[in-house]
Amino acid sequence: MSPIKFHVSRLSAWYRDNCVLNKISIDLPHRQVTAIIGPSGCGKSTFIRCLNRMHELTEGARLAGEVKLDGLNIYDSSIDPVLLRRRVGMVFQKPNPFPTMTIWENVLSGLKLTHRLKKNQSAQIVESALRKAALWDEVKDRLHRPGAGLSGGQQQRLCIARTLAVEPEVILMDEPCSALDPIATARIEDLIHELRKQYTIVIVTHNMQQAARVSNFTAFFLSGDLVEFAGTGQLFTSPSDSRTEDYITGKFG
Ligand SMILES: Nc1ncnc2c1ncn2[C@@H]1O[C@H](COP(=O)(O)OP(=O)(O)O)[C@@H](O)[C@H]1O
Ligand SMILES: [Mg+2]
Repeated sequence: MSPIKFHVSRLSAWYRDNCVLNKISIDLPHRQVTAIIGPSGCGKSTFIRCLNRMHELTEGARLAGEVKLDGLNIYDSSIDPVLLRRRVGMVFQKPNPFPTMTIWENVLSGLKLTHRLKKNQSAQIVESALRKAALWDEVKDRLHRPGAGLSGGQQQRLCIARTLAVEPEVILMDEPCSALDPIATARIEDLIHELRKQYTIVIVTHNMQQAARVSNFTAFFLSGDLVEFAGTGQLFTSPSDSRTEDYITGKFG
C-alpha cells in the first residue's frame, strides 16, 4: 500500500439542514488514481469539494469531521484556503477556459494572481504545462490565439494545463470527460495514466468503464454513504457489498 495523501475521517457535509455526506472515512493513497463512483446526487462532487475547501464557498454549506493532507488538518485556522487550493487543484465537468484570454494567458491565469513572472519564465511554464497536458504539439503555433477556439477536448486539456502550471500535488477531477466525445475522452484517460506518476488524482466519474480503465482504487458512494472502497480490480470483480454489486451490474443508478 502506498503512503496516504488524504486522510478523511467521519466527514459529513450539509447544504443548509440537508445532510448529503454521512461520516465518510477514507484514506486516499499518494500518487495513485482514486475513482469516485455512484448514482447522480449521491455526494461525489460535494465530497471532492471538501478536499480543497470549495464546499464552504457555497452559501449555507457546512461540514464536520476531519480532512488531513499529509497529516495536516486542512480546516485548521492556520490554513489559508487559497494556498491549499494551489496544492489541491480542480478540473471541472465542462471545460471552462477563460473565453477572452489566449491559450498562453489561460495557462498562466492561476499563477498571475500571486506571481510576478518574467517573460522567459512564463514561456517555460507555458511550454512545460502544455507538454504535461499533452497539448503542446497541437497549440504551439497558436499560443496567442483565444482558448475558446480549441475543440472541447483541447479546451479540457488546456484547463488541465492551467491546473498543472500552479504545480499542485493533488488533482481533483469532477467528471472531466462527460462533455467530450470518445476520442477526446481516450486522450484525457491516456493523460491521467501519465499524470498519476507524479500526482495524486481523485476522479469523479459516472462511467464505470472509465473508472475501471483509469483508477487504482475505487470508492462507491450511495446516498451520502461510502459503501465500499477497494482496489479497482477487486471492487469490479468481487465487491464485498451487495449494493456495490447491484450498482456495477446495472441494477440501479
Ligand atoms: N449548491 C447546492 N445547494 C443545495 N443542495 C445541493 C447543492 N449542490 C448539491 N446539492 C445536493 O447535494 C446532494 C449531493 O450532490 P452532489 O455532491 O452534487 O452529488 P453528485 O456529484 O454525486 O451528483 C444532492 O442531493 C444535491 O441536490
Ligand atoms: Mg457531481
